[in-house]
Amino acid sequence: MAHSHTHPHSVDSPGADSHPGHSHGADSRGTPSHLAEMLDLDAEVLHEYHREVITWVGSLVTDRPRIVDLGAGTGTGTTALARQLPAAEITAVDLDESMLDHLRERAAALGLADRVRAVRVDLDQPWPELGPADVVWASAAMHHMADPADAVRQAFATLRPGGLFAITELDSFPHFFADPAGAALEDRCHAVLDALRAEAGLHMHEDWGARLTAAGFAIEAARQFRIELRPPLPAAATRYAQLSMERMRHGLEGRISADDTAALGRLVADLDGGRGDLTIRTTRMVWLARRPA
Ligand SMILES: C[S@@+](CC[C@H](N)C(=O)[O-])C[C@H]1O[C@@H](n2cnc3c(N)ncnc32)[C@H](O)[C@@H]1O
Repeated sequence: MAHSHTHPHSVDSPGADSHPGHSHGADSRGTPSHLAEMLDLDAEVLHEYHREVITWVGSLVTDRPRIVDLGAGTGTGTTALARQLPAAEITAVDLDESMLDHLRERAAALGLADRVRAVRVDLDQPWPELGPADVVWASAAMHHMADPADAVRQAFATLRPGGLFAITELDSFPHFFADPAGAALEDRCHAVLDALRAEAGLHMHEDWGARLTAAGFAIEAARQFRIELRPPLPAAATRYAQLSMERMRHGLEGRISADDTAALGRLVADLDGGRGDLTIRTTRMVWLARRPA
């Protein structure tokens, strides 16, 4: 099936890269994609949202949950889960070995290594035995699956009866500029990126509720989080915006006008000096579903 094996990481910007390939540090043209940094910044800048979702999930599970983190990336979700749920045991899986190395280092640095196991798994293939899990967690990961229905079925099989599947996805990628010219440029770029993601086989606007129901899950919640962070924002937010714009410029090379490419380049350069009017607007979706007991 047409999947994302051929397009650059930067097509699928903040917190939702494209195909992991074998080196997340560079795309198919050998240009650094900074994906790991992007994922870490997403967790840092949007920490209140991430914390709220994990608190919510934590309130719905047993005290010592066994958790499987699908497409765990650099481990921002894995380690946040381990810290907020201090008796949880987590198996983090990803296709990308360098992501898993990053994750192992992060877990060790935080003193969580005894409760975090990192395993290389291609979730597009039949999954190895990962359960029985109390929670399967998938943050910005399900849209990568080549066959979403099959991945949801395998998540169901990984859960114990009564277990919880938490899917979070980006509903809209972050917007940073409130001035009319900046906002219009972002809108134009987002529209082209949306088309490229669809072309690449990413399932960005999947109806996960319907997929979950079809696989036998009982939906507990489907909730949209509207995030709006206003100035003044911390330095990490400026870096997040800068990296997002840079990835966007790179991913859209040859797909947008020369003027827009140049304007993106100027925005990236301007952000070096910081920018007092930066905002962050994004929407995220969370689905919580139970495997019936
Ligand atoms: C956008 S990142 C999300 C990382 C992390 N969950 C987070 O929220 O920061 C998606 C991750 O899914 C992984 N991934 C993509 N396709 C995969 C597959 N077929 N099997 C396993 N992992 C995959 C990528 O390597 C990447 O680390």
